[in-house]
Amino acid sequence: MEVFKEIFPLREHLKTIRAAHKTIGFVPTMGALHEGHMALVKNSLEENDFTICSVYVNPTQFNNASDLKNYPRELEKDLQLLKNKGCDAVFAPSDNIIYPEKTAITIDFGSLANRLEGAFRPGHFNGVATIVSKLFHIVEPDQAYFGQKDLQQFLIIKQLVEDLSFQIKLRCVEIVREDDGLARSSRNKRLSEKERDKAVVLHQALLKARDLLLTGKSVGDCKSEVSQLFSEPSVKLEYFEVVDANSLKVITNISEPKNVAICVAAFVGEVRLIDNIIFSKEL
Ligand code: PAF
Repeated sequence: MEVFKEIFPLREHLKTIRAAHKTIGFVPTMGALHEGHMALVKNSLEENDFTICSVYVNPTQFNNASDLKNYPRELEKDLQLLKNKGCDAVFAPSDNIIYPEKTAITIDFGSLANRLEGAFRPGHFNGVATIVSKLFHIVEPDQAYFGQKDLQQFLIIKQLVEDLSFQIKLRCVEIVREDDGLARSSRNKRLSEKERDKAVVLHQALLKARDLLLTGKSVGDCKSEVSQLFSEPSVKLEYFEVVDANSLKVITNISEPKNVAICVAAFVGEVRLIDNIIFSKEL
């Protein structure tokens, strides 16, 4: 597995891959890899001739300095995991390679970026869209893989690809969960043992809400029943919304859209976690 720290040698290498008519699958990550990332890599390995993963903690998508400072960084461990999995190459640049100068442009996705995560993390999706555009231009993959856990991020990147005519097929890979249902996340590493046990409430709340909605409860009643699960003082709910899975518009009646997503964000201690489930009324 080749590891690239700079753009030029990576581009030269990828040219030879393309010249050999091999397809390129790309898995962008911020490292601290877990089973969720490994599922993205697995999908890419199965669907492409060559798989490249990037490991870069992108500062421009953090709106909270302590979150950026505390974000786990474990490059050597990540490289070992990727090598064992069969990944072909890794791009692990430093900040001065990606941002030699502060970027001047901003990317505004309108209402899609202002709800849910966007409402609580101003500027976050501008940072995500900036880094993903840069990485797409550098790697020029055939397919790129993202996790469903960051559903809004996936929809933003889908919009980016459509609006800027990137010739890249996007894949959204299902959430990988711990045995008790907690969604795998790099941030889980920052939970204490007690907090780790409490964190399962996010998934429990999603399952309960889905069941209530499918048995005919109104969205309003369902939200007030579920909010009672968040009574534990160490768990602070930020949002719990029932939305159209494509537009992320809040819905009041689940028979309106074909695919419904329930999205949740909460602080467990100091650690902010998100989760979601997508279902259709027909299920
Ligand atoms: O999902 C992530 O890990 C990041 O937001 C991404 C897509 C790698 C951009 O920094």
